[in-house]
Amino acid sequence: MGRQLKFNIFRFNPEDPASVPHMDTFLLEETDAMTLFIALNRIREEQDPTLQFDFVCRAGICGSCAMLINGRPDLACHTKTKKLPEEITLMPLPVFKMVGDLSVDTGTWFRGMHQNVESWVHTNKTFDPKAQEEPMTNELAEEIYELERCIECGCCIAACGKANMVPDNFMGAAAFNRIARFMLDPRDQRSNDEYFEIVGNDEGIFGCLGLLGCEDVCPKKLPLQDQLGMLRRKMGWSAVQHLFSRVFTRK
Ligand code: SF4
Ligand code: SF4
Ligand code: FES
Repeated sequence: MGRQLKFNIFRFNPEDPASVPHMDTFLLEETDAMTLFIALNRIREEQDPTLQFDFVCRAGICGSCAMLINGRPDLACHTKTKKLPEEITLMPLPVFKMVGDLSVDTGTWFRGMHQNVESWVHTNKTFDPKAQEEPMTNELAEEIYELERCIECGCCIAACGKANMVPDNFMGAAAFNRIARFMLDPRDQRSNDEYFEIVGNDEGIFGCLGLLGCEDVCPKKLPLQDQLGMLRRKMGWSAVQHLFSRVFTRK
């Protein structure tokens, strides 16, 4: 017989004026290889059909199942209950707009992020469908791919002290990672000055507290520390150049 697990789950329906945020408790017997995906589905099927949560891929690919698991942001589909104590508390990710219970709207946040960082290759070249593909070394392609592995789960944003303090005014590690990806890409012709306009401010890299909660919780183990360090150095140098150009052009 498996362990008797006790789940404390956050409940709130922002669409219902009568709904009040509270915790509900559910008991469930643990089965072999049980994940939180299995546990939550069993609770919904056997105990409370109104429980809201998100899963799509169940394989750590879509990023939709992130939640606070005993206070730590992580993917529920990848989390085995045997790694957790008998009492498990599940809360929705902070920072993002609540949909209901454990479900939050990360899509709107990430869409805004992509618009802010202008998340596409900027080039003056006119597309010529007959031109030969421009080669890229395997090493560089792999470096870019490494940063493309972000699944937009929102764990790094939920773990970020600064994003929690100013949820509408901090770009966060996922955005810094995205900018770093385009800085690596030789097809993107943006200069450091142009990136500085986007990220060289307190809402961007200069507002980052540098404690790296983001890297600690990233379920895809993206090298966020390296990207934040690189951006801080490059944008710091751009800030110095801006300062000097203001001093020397002053009459
Ligand atoms: S290092 Fe910066 S981006 Fe990462 S969690 Fe801390 S404040 Fe947020
Ligand atoms: S950087 Fe990591 S934690 Fe942040 S959204 Fe991407 S995959 Fe999730
Ligand atoms: S359901 Fe897709 S990452 Fe968990």
